[in-house]
Amino acid sequence: MAKDKTLYCCHACGGTSPKWLGKCPHCGAWNTLVETRAEPIASGKNRFDALAGSTGVVALADIEASQLQRSPTGVDELDRVLGGGIVAGGVVLIGGDPGIGKSTLLLQALDALQRAGLKTLYVSGEESGAQVALRARRLGLDGSQVNVLAEIQLEKILATLSAMQPDIAVIDSIQTVYSEQLSSAPGSVAQVRECAAHLTRAAKSGATSVVLVGHVTKEGALAGPRVLEHMVDTVLYFEGDTHSSFRLVRAIKNRFGAVNEIGVFAMTERGLKGVSNPSAIFLSQHAAPVPGSCVLVTQEGTRPLLVEIQALVDNGGPSPRRLSVGLERDRLAMLLAVLHRHAGVACMDQDVFVNAVGGVRVSEPAADLAVLLAIGSSLRGRALPKGFVTFGEVGLAGEVRPAPRGQERLREAAKLGFSVALVPKANAPKKPDPALAGLQIHAVERIEDAMALVRSLD
Ligand code: TYD
Ligand code: MG
Repeated sequence: MAKDKTLYCCHACGGTSPKWLGKCPHCGAWNTLVETRAEPIASGKNRFDALAGSTGVVALADIEASQLQRSPTGVDELDRVLGGGIVAGGVVLIGGDPGIGKSTLLLQALDALQRAGLKTLYVSGEESGAQVALRARRLGLDGSQVNVLAEIQLEKILATLSAMQPDIAVIDSIQTVYSEQLSSAPGSVAQVRECAAHLTRAAKSGATSVVLVGHVTKEGALAGPRVLEHMVDTVLYFEGDTHSSFRLVRAIKNRFGAVNEIGVFAMTERGLKGVSNPSAIFLSQHAAPVPGSCVLVTQEGTRPLLVEIQALVDNGGPSPRRLSVGLERDRLAMLLAVLHRHAGVACMDQDVFVNAVGGVRVSEPAADLAVLLAIGSSLRGRALPKGFVTFGEVGLAGEVRPAPRGQERLREAAKLGFSVALVPKANAPKKPDPALAGLQIHAVERIEDAMALVRSLD
């Protein structure tokens, strides 16, 4: 048995350090190291045993690559992010803020799977059986045959899994599960990691697919699901503003499918409903164009999505603020420097706020042009023309770079009735396209040309 040893573990990335440091040496986050104990695992095995069984040396060509056995969950938008359904023996982690809809979505999926003839198990650590039943009734899942176990002790959960051998088990949530073999508190990094490793091992040794639910906590009071990302096959995160009814589920890691695919749902009084044509849901409905608003055509996985980017530029104090919601803040500072240096538009003494409407997170650089045009529009107090859309990356030299799948983005904008598009030169259609008939397309190569062009459209 290994000796107990004090270790400091980062609750953001899961990295460890032998001594306490203000800054995590692995991910660079501040104040994330917490004291944990490196405890021996009950079975004495390596935690990573669960990830792949050990075999002798074999040539790659001689290994039989069996076809993945997938079960569609019956929730189309969830299947889309999973890459076609739950894989037998696969482990999925679903993270998201409390109250965003994780339990709701999984209960709906389990019910559909159970009705399709699979054996399902819902392990609830946060709600009693009665509460889960109440939720199921509310979701209209009367007569649901989903098996429910209200339990938080790992050993009992593992015993149930091995006795019952379900096709799919949901653990809601991994932070509530604890093992008596470890002395650290439930929800601590050590507990969460060890419990997840044991459940992963159970999934791989049987043919049970396991879905782990994890809360993302901003304060880091509980171990965030980030420490588990490397252990599991698929990582999905819920996004969206809990005040709006739309929710996005994004795949950020998927050993069995494409990443960055998104599923879009609307929260209704009867649970989450898939939105199969989501392109226009993130547009706010202004009666007339308003200054500081610019519509971006972003590409999420295989689907174009139109998102309104809003900017507010206002007189700041001695140290002006730069704040962004749904967009990267460091990139905002860089874009403001490019705007000043190459287009002569200065915001040094101004507060600049930017926001992607609807709680959606836009991480692709193709949002740059929309951010800058929204800032320019707010600064001038002039709205962009009615029916205006844009996309394109802006480089440090002031050049406007093309975005992938430009044609598809333009077609989606035209389909939704947009009439003016400002795009990078390389994304302008080379041949006439009948699908773009109603769209007037302006192509630019530099940020100063883009700013001049929108001024000429005033
Ligand atoms: P929940 O699935 O419990 O969130 P999580 O498991 O991620 O913490 O979702 C809870 C929220 O969803 C709650 O605020 C109420 C809302 N809700 C609906 O609007 N309609 C419904 O049918 C259900 C079941 C929940
Ligand atoms: Mg829940």
